[in-house]
Amino acid sequence: EVWNPNGKYRVVSTKSMPGTRWINLLVQQDCRVEICTEKKTILSVEDIIALIGNKCDGVIGQLTEDWGDTLFSALSKAGGKAFSNMAVGYNNVDVDAANKYGVAVGNTPGVLTETTAELAASLSLAASRRIVEADGFMRAGLYDGWLPHLFVGNLLKGQTVGVIGAGRIGSAYARMMIEGFKMNLIYYDLYQATRLEKFVTGMSDSIFSYGQFLKASGEEPVTWKRASSMDEVLQVADVISLHPILDKTTYHLINKERLSKMKKEAILINCSRGPVVDEEALVEHLRQNPMFRVGLDVFEDEPYMKPGLADMKNAIVVPHIASASKWTREGMATLAALNVLGKIKGYPTWSNPNA
Ligand code: DGY
Repeated sequence: EVWNPNGKYRVVSTKSMPGTRWINLLVQQDCRVEICTEKKTILSVEDIIALIGNKCDGVIGQLTEDWGDTLFSALSKAGGKAFSNMAVGYNNVDVDAANKYGVAVGNTPGVLTETTAELAASLSLAASRRIVEADGFMRAGLYDGWLPHLFVGNLLKGQTVGVIGAGRIGSAYARMMIEGFKMNLIYYDLYQATRLEKFVTGMSDSIFSYGQFLKASGEEPVTWKRASSMDEVLQVADVISLHPILDKTTYHLINKERLSKMKKEAILINCSRGPVVDEEALVEHLRQNPMFRVGLDVFEDEPYMKPGLADMKNAIVVPHIASASKWTREGMATLAALNVLGKIKGYPTWSNPNA
């Protein structure tokens, strides 16, 4: 699919993306926009080299693609100056290789913060109240009347939510769980000053008045705490949500040993990246601990799940949809287009993970 065929700058998008704002922005700035219409979901390096061709000023790509030395070399040979992932995560991008070939790299933070946090919150609720299991039970025609023990789950109010990775998304999630469900908070981040800290400090007045309000209505105020170690979060929290970036330090951050430190009835949520969790160890843990529950949006070898995971009743699995709201996906497409356009035209790029 080609827009503005006579445009001066050739910009390729490896996928069709929601909305038309991103296309209009590029077209108005003299770009010829080519959108790949290939039906297969995951493009290979060879497919993308063919798309880049001999002349290409910039590419908007996806997290399913392997942007390493080969692709950045091809893009640079074609005169390309910019690449943007249509994602905030960029573990699929070798930023050093991009630097080596003089290609600027962009990502799309900000517009997906609340949407992703909302999915983490949805999975937390769905897991604690066993919504997916109960839905399956109804559809199977098994409901034959109200029973005191039927699908009894946990009350989030007064329980402790543990956030690992207190950046933009982790902070938004923490806020939803504190303010929305009156949970206590414990969080851990590898970095000293986290966004959650800024949120907590910046919002201390409102948390304080909220605490006062709860006290006045005879309820316990919500407490929050930065943990001194990740183990503390694992041991204390009832619901643990993972929000780190994926790099060498966070690969298999949650492994067999760390799973064994969590409460037997804990809930683990992962909307970050699959390899942050050792999925084989997780399947085994779910098997051994039927009251332990998990809500997963991401998987170690996407699009596949490790054997056994799909059979586990105590697991909720969804296909990497945390950012999938219309507003967010259009925003991500627009930011990605602006990243590429900014570099081609010499405007400041909107978002560059190098910066
Ligand atoms: C991202 O942006 O990194 C998400 O995984 C997809 O929205």
